[in-house]
Amino acid sequence: MKAHRITLLAACAMAASLSMAQTPAKIKVGLMLPYTGTYAALGIAIENGFRLQIAEQGGKIAGREIEFVKVDDESDPSKATDNVNKLVKRDNVDVLVGTVHSGVAMAMAKVAKDTGTLLIVPNAGADIVTGAMCAPNIFRSSFSNWQPAYAMGEVAIKKGAKKAVTITHKYAAGDESVKGFREAFEKGGGQIVKDLSLPFPGVEFQALLTEIASLKPDVVYTFFAGGAAVKFVKDYAAAGLKKSIPLYGAGFLTDGTLDAQGADADGLFTTLHYADSLGTARDNAFRLAYAKTYKMQPDVYAVQGYDAAQILAIGTAAVKGDLSKKAEFASAVEKAKIDSPRGPFMLSKAHNPVQDIYLRQVTGKENKLVSVAIKGLADPARGCKM
Ligand code: BEZ
Repeated sequence: MKAHRITLLAACAMAASLSMAQTPAKIKVGLMLPYTGTYAALGIAIENGFRLQIAEQGGKIAGREIEFVKVDDESDPSKATDNVNKLVKRDNVDVLVGTVHSGVAMAMAKVAKDTGTLLIVPNAGADIVTGAMCAPNIFRSSFSNWQPAYAMGEVAIKKGAKKAVTITHKYAAGDESVKGFREAFEKGGGQIVKDLSLPFPGVEFQALLTEIASLKPDVVYTFFAGGAAVKFVKDYAAAGLKKSIPLYGAGFLTDGTLDAQGADADGLFTTLHYADSLGTARDNAFRLAYAKTYKMQPDVYAVQGYDAAQILAIGTAAVKGDLSKKAEFASAVEKAKIDSPRGPFMLSKAHNPVQDIYLRQVTGKENKLVSVAIKGLADPARGCKM
């Protein structure tokens, strides 16, 4: 009897250790996103999109379950290095996914580069991340700040604008967005008469709007997103400027914000790598699944989160779940055509999406597709040596 019990216990222990050996460890995903502050809704949409994609794959990536370690980065660059170091060194995450704010993303890219940790950027457009800081282990599922801005510079010229004023938050994303717009606008013979800005995340626009009224440009180009975009669009209309000076923007101005902006956003033209009415089977299926799961409409941030998970799945499948094989992971992702709701795209050599930039116009609660402003636009990846 005693011998029988010992054998049974030994068998149980063996079975347990066998099943442990057969169940691959979970993939630890370090989600570093803003969950508070002006970009909170953007962080939530990214996480929603990321989780939706994984759910569509049966809740696993290449047969491995996922464990999330989440950090609210508050869109605060001064806390970014500590936050990302905690994920990498304390929590030992296999992959970092983040973030929204360009300044925070630059700190993430530095740590990823120094430690070799995989990083997938699901929003922040900081040009340098897929420019001078480009690295084999860093990927972006979103855009570079240059891309939608450059496209809007061309659109403004085609619409006949000659003089523009720009207005944005004073940080990498705003500065680079204005620079991208300027490049195309000046190439087409336009002139920027004044660059206006205020510190991130301030929303005291009144004095700047008064200055715009007195400068009387043909158009205003702007980069604002999230809560600040809502307030800026409303203040621009309240100041009476919407009637007299067309407001153009990188599409973040009106993405995920239309419920709050209401009629004040109606008619605005923006450029972005997504629109609400693409009408493709792929996008329709994504939008339906997202709306069913989260009881709200998706936006560009949800798409970028979804595609970050697709990039992770493609790389992880290629290395059969062994994320230490970084070179094989990268080579699979570099060859892949990503079946995005925005339309299929591939990554450039610098690992930034080469993608169509759409001209959209706000109609009711939608950023309606007007045309493809620039087809297959690749970021110039200035300074990338890879
Ligand atoms: C950025 O900081 O890169 C950014 C933030 C919000 C929307 C788009 C870009």
